[in-house]
Amino acid sequence: MRKYRFDPEADIAEDIRGKHGYDGDLLQIYAGNNGATVHKWHHYIPIYDRYFTEFRGTGVRFLEIGVKGGGSLQMWRRYLGEDAVIFGIDIDENCAQLDGQAGQVRIGSQKDPDFLNTVVDEMGGLDVVLDDGSHRMAHIRTSFQTLFPRLNQNGIYMVEDLHTAYWDKYGGGFKAPLNFFRFVRELTDDMHRWYHPRKLRHPGLGDQISGVHVHDSIAVIEKQPVHRPCHSWVG
Ligand SMILES: C[S@@+](CC[C@H](N)C(=O)[O-])C[C@H]1O[C@@H](n2cnc3c(N)ncnc32)[C@H](O)[C@@H]1O
Repeated sequence: MRKYRFDPEADIAEDIRGKHGYDGDLLQIYAGNNGATVHKWHHYIPIYDRYFTEFRGTGVRFLEIGVKGGGSLQMWRRYLGEDAVIFGIDIDENCAQLDGQAGQVRIGSQKDPDFLNTVVDEMGGLDVVLDDGSHRMAHIRTSFQTLFPRLNQNGIYMVEDLHTAYWDKYGGGFKAPLNFFRFVRELTDDMHRWYHPRKLRHPGLGDQISGVHVHDSIAVIEKQPVHRPCHSWVG
């Protein structure tokens, strides 16, 4: 990780602007942060904006897995606005003291479906999930299997720091059975179920997916109404 560390003396905003051509509000919110520490890979900032911008200024129900010092909850509050219903979950009991500040904080594990369902019940629904929790492959999968069915139509499910999918310590590995990108591949196959004879691998998940996007260390799974595809010749 150390080898990817950005020079602490250099200009973060300039780096993001220059490399990624992004100069929106989230850049100012992130690079100008003087609240609780928030740690993000630079290329994530424009990716977040690309998928989350439509929810700004709305009553979006946004769940972040992994609260730590609360820096990202503050960032999401500034970015999404006062009407957003922002919840964070963490296993670390110390995070409870952040409850009610930038968002609501609940203590429990992302590998516990009952806990996750209780949180979503309390939120009154779910539009966006951002998984920045344990980064363990089995946990990421359980959270997805529990939360994706609860996601509203037009919802976004984002998992970050998926370089861990290649690291043993997180249950990953290039050919590891639980490498999350294998699961993403299976979901992609399910999304294309019309075009091959295989049975759905993940009923209730793969058949509800309208789009799968993979960026460096980030997977984004979109949920929109899915229709049997059709095509036409016009003109
Ligand atoms: C990378 S930090 C989150 C950072 C935060 N999102 C930010 O950007 O400032 C990961 C957090 O996940 C929490 N965590 C670890 N295992 C977890 C689990 N099984 N369920 C929920 N949270 C977990 C850790 O306690 C830690 O606070």
